[in-house]
Amino acid sequence: MNHQPRIVVFQCQFCLYAETDQHWMDHELPANFKLVKVPCSGRISPLFVLNAFQGGADGVLISGCVPEMCHYKEGNLGARRQLDEFSRLLKYIGLEEQRIRFAWIDVNQRGRIQQELASFEKDLADLPRNERLATRTPVEQGALQ
Ligand code: FES
Repeated sequence: MNHQPRIVVFQCQFCLYAETDQHWMDHELPANFKLVKVPCSGRISPLFVLNAFQGGADGVLISGCVPEMCHYKEGNLGARRQLDEFSRLLKYIGLEEQRIRFAWIDVNQRGRIQQELASFEKDLADLPRNERLATRTPVEQGALQ
């Protein structure tokens, strides 16, 4: 690992629900991760993602319900379509598309979120730090450390 990536996780509040994984996310998430819960992955604006990168995040992981289990029918599919476009925009402005990742997680997949985060962290560590879009210092904004 070349550096410890700073990662923002947008998590649909329903995908892990009250299982032990949610407890881990709420109380034991390593300090280089920042958790943002949302009512549905379909509620995540690409501007939220851009804001995370401007705040110094090296990567953004979006965790949502598996496609057929979205509580708002197709919110997760809409998010996927929208953010696919956004990842292409990232490439256009000089950031690697791999800095955004989706994880469709069902309440029955215990331990999956930890695996996804570890895999994403490892992949991001091979990329350079995000300095291209980081226009605010994390300390000034009280965001990522
Ligand atoms: Fe979880 Fe829509 S309710 S992704």
